[in-house]
Amino acid sequence: MNIREITKDVYYVGVNDRTLDRFEGLWPLPYGVSYNSYIVKGSNKTALIDTVEIGSIRDLFHSIMSQIGGDKIDYLVINHMEPDHSGGINAVLAAYPDAKLIGNKQTIAMVKGYYHISDDRFLEITDGDTIDLGGKTLRFVLTPMVHWPETMMTYIEEDGIIFSGDAFGTFGALNGGIVDDEMDTGWYKDEMYRYYSNIVGKYGRFVQKALAKTSNLDIKYICSTHGPVWHSKIGEVVEIYDKLSKYESEPGVTIIYGSMYGNTAEVAEEIARQLAARGVRNIKIHNAAKSNLSYMISDAFRYEGLIVGSPTYSMHIFPPVEQFMIAMETREFKNKVLATFGSFSWASAAHKQLKDYALKSKIDVVASLEMKHSAGSDTFTQVAHLADKVVEALKLK
Ligand code: FEO
Repeated sequence: MNIREITKDVYYVGVNDRTLDRFEGLWPLPYGVSYNSYIVKGSNKTALIDTVEIGSIRDLFHSIMSQIGGDKIDYLVINHMEPDHSGGINAVLAAYPDAKLIGNKQTIAMVKGYYHISDDRFLEITDGDTIDLGGKTLRFVLTPMVHWPETMMTYIEEDGIIFSGDAFGTFGALNGGIVDDEMDTGWYKDEMYRYYSNIVGKYGRFVQKALAKTSNLDIKYICSTHGPVWHSKIGEVVEIYDKLSKYESEPGVTIIYGSMYGNTAEVAEEIARQLAARGVRNIKIHNAAKSNLSYMISDAFRYEGLIVGSPTYSMHIFPPVEQFMIAMETREFKNKVLATFGSFSWASAAHKQLKDYALKSKIDVVASLEMKHSAGSDTFTQVAHLADKVVEALKLK
């Protein structure tokens, strides 16, 4: 059995990267990441769908050789230009000198800008165009801003396979299996939340457009650029992407706080206990100075409630908490039960600034409290009130 063969004459030729420390130079990769490429072999022509990050080119060629040997590649389809997928363009075009690069107008402009390829190597397509490889018809579906302006998907009509670019992708390298039936996919769910919220999170409305545009296709396999090929779990992953792109979340509360000497932390811990006492079960607490931003964003997207607290630090929000708020504002966060808490020693500033972020993002703050110096009985009374308000708002969701 060839585990790389997804359906007849469609092969996985992607690679694993277990060396890179941070994706996009920012996001931790504790379980690695895969850059997925695929070969589609028709009776007349062969196409390679996307390439890999530049440091993994040797592995890409080994994968290609293992599946088609010295057969030539006629087309290189570039669904997405981000360098984790386009890094092999020059090498592939050099290895297959007759191959044409297929892309839309925006792709081609970007390829020229990044890789300085001559005009005669391109075959420009527009939305809905098809190319027949001989028993394998590739149809191109433009899906801009999932996750760059040029992004598109490629659908094989005869096989019901869609090469979806970053959509339905996840962090986490492939550990042997390629199609979801060949592995235990449970742990990918957490990594999918993190991947979506970190990388694609800002583009929810474009993901919704792409989902609508592809909803009439008969899709049996989703071949994204990162993570497993989805087959038996298509329903689950489409639901995750659909919900996240509508900013819908799961029951639970994320608490993000900063604290210099433990006083603001004490409030965060008490809020969590009061929520738990009122029946909230999924509570994630992050000390923003210690937790990685990637995981804070992921939990904030995943759970319905978000409570953010900061001491006043040189008349500003404590810097790691502000970094989190900027990240959420950038991702146009909405549809949250939001509460805030702040503290100060002689002049109050952080708490108002936290609420200003909510105002800018047009999110109501359902409850807030501010503490001077350290927690006293009045603080705990306010915490109980805040917990009441948050639980009440969560019940209305
Ligand atoms: Fe995996 Fe947007 O690149």
